[in-house]
Amino acid sequence: MTTICDIYDLQKLARRRVPRMFYQYADSGSWTQSTYRANEDDFKNIKLRQRVAVDITDRSLETSIIGQSANMPIALAPVGLTGMQHPDGEIKAALAAEAAGVPFTLSTMSICSIEEVAKHTSKPFWFQLYVMRDREFIRNLIDRAKNAGCSALMLTLDLQILGQRHNDVRNGLSAPPKFTINAMMQVLSKPRWCLSMLTTRNHTFGNIVGHAKGVGDLSSLSSWTAEQFDPRLSWDDIDWIREHWGGPLIIKGILDVEDAKMAAKVGADAIVVSNHGGRQLDGADSSINALPGIVDAVGKDIEIHFDSGIRSGQDVLKALCLGAHAAYIGRAYDYGLGAAGQAGVTKALAIILKELDTTMALCGERLVGNLGRHNLLHPPG
Ligand code: FNR
Repeated sequence: MTTICDIYDLQKLARRRVPRMFYQYADSGSWTQSTYRANEDDFKNIKLRQRVAVDITDRSLETSIIGQSANMPIALAPVGLTGMQHPDGEIKAALAAEAAGVPFTLSTMSICSIEEVAKHTSKPFWFQLYVMRDREFIRNLIDRAKNAGCSALMLTLDLQILGQRHNDVRNGLSAPPKFTINAMMQVLSKPRWCLSMLTTRNHTFGNIVGHAKGVGDLSSLSSWTAEQFDPRLSWDDIDWIREHWGGPLIIKGILDVEDAKMAAKVGADAIVVSNHGGRQLDGADSSINALPGIVDAVGKDIEIHFDSGIRSGQDVLKALCLGAHAAYIGRAYDYGLGAAGQAGVTKALAIILKELDTTMALCGERLVGNLGRHNLLHPPG
């Protein structure tokens, strides 16, 4: 029996249980992985201010995120191919998020479709949109998200083309895995995973197959996806997307102050300061370094969310101290899913809640809303 104390324990277990191509799809950054590493390392450089003899009974992590109540200032980030870490992974993660009282975001590149997730859950979830060249497909996706009762649309802007992800190339990543010797060796070395995958029919991109013109099998899907990310996407596109959606809009993938100002101007409800978990522009700043400048520039105009590099509740607290209103976890829950399915995601959320609460108490604070730069030893500015 493995004792699970922190997110890294879940990560180790996921590495043992999930075929290499899918494990490394999560546990990798792009190119040299310098930004991927910086996301975590730069959190370690932030020092907390310990306070004592403060009454810290009756603490609360409760908050609201884009006007929706949440048990803690945390959401599950959109993560593609979650259903390859564990069968029906998107449904399992959504159920764990629902039970923990935090939002779950379904990726465009999910394995379970919007409708499948809606059918198996009882609370609204958020839907993340990649803008594809085929605008008819996008309109249709937005309509499907509306029909499924999604309570926010998250538009990701930092993936107009895919970053260079060398591990995915080396591992021959595809969903479902292709019948190559390389892929079959990886998959067959995890018999427990193979058997569990027989329990579901969800094995490929559920939002795309059967919904995009000309996508019927794996080879048409791969070429369609490769061609579809839209390099022409510009700020002018936000208007029609916002109008067609008509609900709360979150813009994800902001790392620069000028882009943050643009996002605030186009009428989004929130932005996510994010470098996609170090998976896109290698050499970009860590997300936590970029956060304070963006908060100073637009924090009064728009709700600021944060992700990239969070592996503990203490990281969440540091992001909140630097002005984030909420923080998303990506890999931290994906590892939980690979390690133990829904129970693993529940565990990841419980670990983060406990760490956040304990750290907040030892900083002498009772409410997440009271956290600020005064809780840090060397605050920026
Ligand atoms: C992602 N991310 C992502 N973002 C997005 O908008 N749509 C997507 O489909 C995906 N897919 C995806 C897959 C995997 C395996 C990972 C790890 C990440 C980025 C994600 O939403 C988030 O920005 C990062 O995961 C945050 O970094 P951490 O928490 O994983 O370090």
